[in-house]
Amino acid sequence: MERSTVAAWPFDVRPLTPNLGARIVGVDLAQDIGDDLFRAIYRAFLRYQVLLFGPLDLPPARQVAFGRRFGEVQVHVMNQYHADGFPELYRLSNLDANGKPNGRHPDRGTMAWHTDGSWKRVTGQATIIYGEVVAGIGGDTEFCDMYGAYERLDPAWKARIENLRAVHNLDFSRTRRHGEDPMSAAQRLETPPVDHPVVRTHPETGRDCIYLGDHAEYIVGMPYDDGRALIEALNALAVHPDLAYAHRWNAGELLVWDNRCVMHRATAYDPFTQRRVVRRCTVLGEEPARQRAAPG
Ligand SMILES: [Fe+2]
Repeated sequence: MERSTVAAWPFDVRPLTPNLGARIVGVDLAQDIGDDLFRAIYRAFLRYQVLLFGPLDLPPARQVAFGRRFGEVQVHVMNQYHADGFPELYRLSNLDANGKPNGRHPDRGTMAWHTDGSWKRVTGQATIIYGEVVAGIGGDTEFCDMYGAYERLDPAWKARIENLRAVHNLDFSRTRRHGEDPMSAAQRLETPPVDHPVVRTHPETGRDCIYLGDHAEYIVGMPYDDGRALIEALNALAVHPDLAYAHRWNAGELLVWDNRCVMHRATAYDPFTQRRVVRRCTVLGEEPARQRAAPG
């Protein structure tokens, strides 16, 4: 542990697993937070990859303001999900106008391991999710550490994927794999497939990690089926219980995670009997890149 070398935190940090995730206690995100406090939160975000706050009452405007501290906030192309007049927020709900479960899961794609926004050239940095209504059974959010996933690959796997690039495609993951409503022509035009390195270097920590997940469709320069098989195999290898954290929600909690170095998914719940509403804000990061040490 690096405990002795890290400056004291100005809040309580309670790790959620030996390595991944921490609960932050003693910060009131419903109030404006100062620059020093945000810098410490950001340092914890880089160290723990997943941060948990609350329960607290967090109005939509405060959630957007907190997101803007991290960087540019994404306005999602799937505009049917915009929440409370804030195009920066994306609400996933299975409730009808009377607050009753409508029997429809709002986005089944979230149940496969993925990283937010990997289907864009400039991908997701932080995702900030607030639990408004939480399911009594199911609807957990699970995380897996992609630094650890890369580090535990054997040398043959590392050599095999060293220079590969994967094409990520939202239309593939939503429509073809999960049977969601087809995207409109305009939405499809806005989201052409993009390629990213299979191993990326985190731009701030300098650590390498696997960057794949469910939006990854095929491998550049490889026959389609071979690329599919490689992606499926690597996605499965990347998820390991020793590297994972499963969050059982309480209403009013806020989760923040770093999409550059974790994959996540939601577990299933029964949309006919359970009520679940979360609102999400995604901060844009950068174009993923692999940095290699300069030769000699
Ligand atoms: Fe997601």
